[in-house]
Amino acid sequence: MAEIRVENLVKRFGSVTAVADLSLEIRKGEMVALLGPSGCGKTTLLRMLAGFEHPTEGHIYMDGERINDLPPQQRRIGIVFQDYAIFPTMTVYDNVAYGLKIKKLPRERIRKEVEEYLGLVGLSSYGERMPSQLSGGQQQRVALARALINKPEVLLLDEPLSNLDAALRLRIRKEIRKLQQSLNITAVFVTHDQEEALSIADKIFVMREGELMQSGGPDTIYTRPANDFIADFIGRSNVMYGRVLAGGSEPRVSVDGTVFQVSPPAGEGLSPEERVWVSIRPHLIKLHPLDGISPDRDPALESANAGRGEIVYVEYLGNYTKGEIRLPGGRDLEFEHYHLDPGAGETSLRRGQEVRYEIPARNILTGRSIRGT
Ligand SMILES: Nc1ncnc2c1ncn2[C@@H]1O[C@H](COP(=O)(O)OP(=O)(O)OP(=O)(O)O)[C@@H](O)[C@H]1O
Ligand SMILES: [Mg+2]
Repeated sequence: MAEIRVENLVKRFGSVTAVADLSLEIRKGEMVALLGPSGCGKTTLLRMLAGFEHPTEGHIYMDGERINDLPPQQRRIGIVFQDYAIFPTMTVYDNVAYGLKIKKLPRERIRKEVEEYLGLVGLSSYGERMPSQLSGGQQQRVALARALINKPEVLLLDEPLSNLDAALRLRIRKEIRKLQQSLNITAVFVTHDQEEALSIADKIFVMREGELMQSGGPDTIYTRPANDFIADFIGRSNVMYGRVLAGGSEPRVSVDGTVFQVSPPAGEGLSPEERVWVSIRPHLIKLHPLDGISPDRDPALESANAGRGEIVYVEYLGNYTKGEIRLPGGRDLEFEHYHLDPGAGETSLRRGQEVRYEIPARNILTGRSIRGT
């Protein structure tokens, strides 16, 4: 268990800047996710932490000691590669024993430890098998055991689940998280899958084009995205662009003629005429079927962010219905309508149905755009 600190780290490959002036801290025992689209520099950062790549500029500290020039084998860092790279001509046992044999530990001690770590990853009876006789998930667990048996201070996992099918991804993800928590190991989990990052990490670092965009707990990143890139990238959202009509504590924004009262952004306020992004999560749009209710007599109908809309598309998904609602101004928003009390006989939404929609201003996020649109 160790803590890692990175200061102003830069990595250039010729004219390509893979990592640009990145600073971050990873605490002892923390599992952090490095999240970002393909090519944003995740693997490059991981390889610098592990010592396989030398930084162009900046510093890497482990427990306060600068390790820039320390060779990989002296860093007490374990790494599980994107393609997990276990030795195909060695048995499972020999794969896991590899690191201990290199250290020339006594044969009996190696046997005990390999058995312990195979047990830890649920492969006790698989020692004699060859990798080709294992499923993808089992190979993944061999790679994990092989990294863990060296008792690394820090475990680096580079998209460890990318070769697995959907069901296995969920299972192994939970196993990795539980193992990391029970061993209390510092870990960095690289992924470009936002749900994976949200689910597994204590803290998320969102990267884009070699830069750190935002760091924070999964709930912070989801509910308070720092900019439109993150609002769009993390979770599903209707991200739109508009113009500020009024700033202050109850700001209003016009998006192609549809006016939204929005939640004031963190930090400095908004000025009239500014171009901004607006983000509305589909599940935060409240829908009430208008069947049998006279909309004209409903006082809430004309309030801010509420009105009469038409359902123009639906997908029934059991626990919820997702679809699109057309607002009076003609704009379509994606919604997710959860079926919270099916026993009460609620009817499902239909295409063409008229509904009252309501979006609390506190749940409409906004800010200055970093995308220049
Ligand atoms: N050895 C190299 N030589 C030149 N360019 C490189 C090298 N390694 C990486 N790059 C470039 O640096 C950038 C970051 O690459 P990196 O592999 O770190 O991305 P990534 O975030 O891991 O992407 P992915 O999600 O696709 O794995 C890319 O533009 C890549 O082409
Ligand atoms: Mg990568």
